[in-house]
Amino acid sequence: MAILKIARMGHPILARRADAVEDPRDPGLRRLVDDMIETMHDAPGTGLAAPQVHVPKRVVVFFISAARAAREDDGAAEPTSDVPLTVLVNPEIEPLGEEKTLGWEACLSVPGLTGEVPRYGHIRYRGRTLEGEEVVREARGFHARVVQHECDHLDGVLFPQRMTDLSRLVFTSELRHLAAEEGAAEPED
Ligand code: NI
Repeated sequence: MAILKIARMGHPILARRADAVEDPRDPGLRRLVDDMIETMHDAPGTGLAAPQVHVPKRVVVFFISAARAAREDDGAAEPTSDVPLTVLVNPEIEPLGEEKTLGWEACLSVPGLTGEVPRYGHIRYRGRTLEGEEVVREARGFHARVVQHECDHLDGVLFPQRMTDLSRLVFTSELRHLAAEEGAAEPED
């Protein structure tokens, strides 16, 4: 396993549409995913998409602890549990409802910055595992946000491109000023 170099905003790999994977069970893909997981944990990050490690394939990985989800979804009606370490090959997202919610996001490819991004609050997503099995899940709140963020990388979209108010794009180290004004929680990565 290896920790891979992360592409940063401005690198063309982050701006192109990634290619579909023909065979999710390809051993080379498993090696890539192992390295992506190690890279994500090392960073640390909540999720990672293959283009972020310079590979233009439609693959994402993510993990969301219950504690993290509970912090991000403060006041959520539903009890939260861990979203297990998930690998999605050729993922697709279907919004369930029009409603979007604002939340703070950061990205390993946009180091140092944090922005408030509108995302669908409720989605269904599907994709393949490395065993070729189909995963279908519904997600809300922070879980839905993470999946939308990671899948955007596969279409060459970074979170600032989704923002509707660029005055809400700030250095993470300055976010405490906004948090103090608004009583908002600070994201951790
Ligand atoms: Ni990202």
